[in-house]
Amino acid sequence: MPIPLESNSLKKIYRNRGRTTTAINNFTFSVKDKGVFSLLGRNGSGKTTFVKVSTTQLTPDEGYVKVFGKDVVSDEKELRHMISLVPQESRPFPHMNPYEHVYLFQKMNGNSREESKDRAESVIGLLGMEDFAKVECVNLSGGQKQLTMVAMALSLDTQIYFLDEPTIGLDIITRKRVWNAINKYRNAGKSILLTTHYLDEAAILSDEIGIVSHGNFIKQGTLDELRSGLEYDTRVALRGRTDIKEFEQYGRVFSDESGMVLFTNQENVEKILSDSFVRKERIEVGPIGLDDVFISLVGEDIEVD
Ligand SMILES: Nc1ncnc2c1ncn2[C@@H]1O[C@H](COP(=O)(O)OP(=O)(O)OP(=O)(O)O)[C@@H](O)[C@H]1O
Ligand SMILES: [Mg+2]
Repeated sequence: MPIPLESNSLKKIYRNRGRTTTAINNFTFSVKDKGVFSLLGRNGSGKTTFVKVSTTQLTPDEGYVKVFGKDVVSDEKELRHMISLVPQESRPFPHMNPYEHVYLFQKMNGNSREESKDRAESVIGLLGMEDFAKVECVNLSGGQKQLTMVAMALSLDTQIYFLDEPTIGLDIITRKRVWNAINKYRNAGKSILLTTHYLDEAAILSDEIGIVSHGNFIKQGTLDELRSGLEYDTRVALRGRTDIKEFEQYGRVFSDESGMVLFTNQENVEKILSDSFVRKERIEVGPIGLDDVFISLVGEDIEVD
């Protein structure tokens, strides 16, 4: 069985009225196992462009992408039947309800009436959309519309699902329903490529994470692998503190909306804790998380010097 996803020396340039933007400079990576692979990166780093190339909506300028061994250019037709997609910022039709969206999407994909009905009902149940499934989308909230797009993609039975910020704008209960659905598909042996800016979500769901920056694929690994690649193992948050000079001796210091954050090593914690105890400061100590890995790898410009 070919691997779920392979991107080799991928380059993608947008050309608009004489203006060129290199959205992807070099994405070289592979997703070797099924499960959830999250692509993380700052705004404009090339994630949606990658999803578009992988789902055959855009063609590469250089390099290639293969999905389960099928090339996105030469095997385009075949590939389209193997993938489902939640596009970023997509919107449902105003005068159709969520049920109709899913049902008609099923019919368009060649399923019988009976099967389309069953699948529509099942995905609406899975995502907890019963209360508004028969309400015209024009009368739905932003989150309910977003969930309709997720329901359409998840209603298809394909090998791989490309979910580009599927939980944007969803409340935490609804997000957890989507997480459960993603987990269910994962456990059923499906592959999922997820993009999200909610790093807690990526940490919970991902089997593996890929980090991109300025159009380059820079690192991949499990959360533990990414964590252990860092110089520091401990995160110390000091609330209300802005004087960072004193802490520079212990590691890397960042400013934070409510004070400062220090990446350091466990051996320094006792000293830092006792000092701040004397000064009666509010302090939180914990292991380095995905947020910290992310900031450390791609957040160079928020560092305070
Ligand atoms: N249709 C387009 N025409 C020209 N440039 C584009 C177009 N779409 C995206 N870009 C540019 O390509 C780069 C990558 O955009 P892309 O949408 O892939 O980023 P992203 O990682 O998905 O960002 P976000 O997290 O904000 O969704 C950005 O510099 C963006 O301005
Ligand atoms: Mg995007």
